[in-house]
Amino acid sequence: MKILITGGAGFIGSNLAKRLVSEGHEVTVLDSLLRGNKLDKETYSKVNFIKGDVRDQDLIIKASKGCDLIFHFAAVLGVDIVADNPVETMDVEVIGTRNVVEAAELNNVKKIMYASTSGIYGHSAFETTLSEEVLVDPRTSYAMAKRYNEIYLASHHEEKGVNVISLRFFNVYGGNQDNRMVVPRFFEQAIANESITVFGSGNQTRDFTYIDDTVEACVRLMNINGSHIVNIANEEEWRIEDLALKIKKVTDSSSDIIYLEAPKKRYDYEVERRVGSSDKLLALTGYKPDTDLETGLGLIYKINYSK
Ligand SMILES: NC(=O)c1ccc[n+]([C@@H]2O[C@H](COP(=O)([O-])OP(=O)(O)OC[C@H]3O[C@@H](n4cnc5c(N)ncnc54)[C@H](O)[C@@H]3O)[C@@H](O)[C@H]2O)c1
Repeated sequence: MKILITGGAGFIGSNLAKRLVSEGHEVTVLDSLLRGNKLDKETYSKVNFIKGDVRDQDLIIKASKGCDLIFHFAAVLGVDIVADNPVETMDVEVIGTRNVVEAAELNNVKKIMYASTSGIYGHSAFETTLSEEVLVDPRTSYAMAKRYNEIYLASHHEEKGVNVISLRFFNVYGGNQDNRMVVPRFFEQAIANESITVFGSGNQTRDFTYIDDTVEACVRLMNINGSHIVNIANEEEWRIEDLALKIKKVTDSSSDIIYLEAPKKRYDYEVERRVGSSDKLLALTGYKPDTDLETGLGLIYKINYSK
């Protein structure tokens, strides 16, 4: 297939590009390099790389010419960055997705796969494992824009028939991720034997999905047509304090763990509990993520630190 990945130099996009290239697909990556380039040398040499902004409509039209599929992953993310830049966050989401949809229509691209987020669940269904049927409760610019785009894409499917899948990723982690996210941040602190800084009590929970499982889910969903919203979750609920302890163990670190009050700007992002169900993914593809957290953290140590 001929495939465009927007945001394909980022953490998830670069891993996806590597997999797609290895399977013989013709891949174009469009990325503004806002966060540097995470494509490895070999993959970079095999993709058609375009440096540019998803908000540039002409460029998206050019980049998607002849494509069968667009993975639309370009986004501004990271709690502190989004909190400091809510307008740009929404801008990139809303204008970027509109451009992708219009370019797909113009170029007769049959399918769009969009990176949404588990963040749109917000504080909803606090007591339950989150399935796609749960009423969502987005409260941040980032989550609201993601939900808006999910609805926009679904309605576009109704009107024009293009196949659309919104992927609700649950805390994806793996090697080569930067420290905007909690897992690499704890790793850096543990490796340096500095205090590991937890915001709040550490009792808040998250569901961590290993990068290879995330890519596997994306690849399997490439074969599914129609209009779907699909959780990509590992279905394991971990306290953030336990994450810190596990990373301490994997890195054999002498770091202590300190508990800080979250800065005010983070309040809307602080969710006490988040664990997802991947039953729908399983029903659609016969697959669900299965790398347990300890194994995944061990893999990060091996990839990033054991040379
Ligand atoms: N990593 C996670 O845990 C997670 C969780 C939920 C959702 N997501 C979503 O998955 C997608 C990929 O996330 P990631 O972890 O790889 O993040 P990332 O920041 O590593 O990748 C995003 C990429 O988008 C690029 N980008 C940003 N603004 C752009 C613009 N205006 N034009 C072109 N490119 C631009 C960046 O340079 C970066 O390479 C994002 O849409 C994100 O919102 C990620």
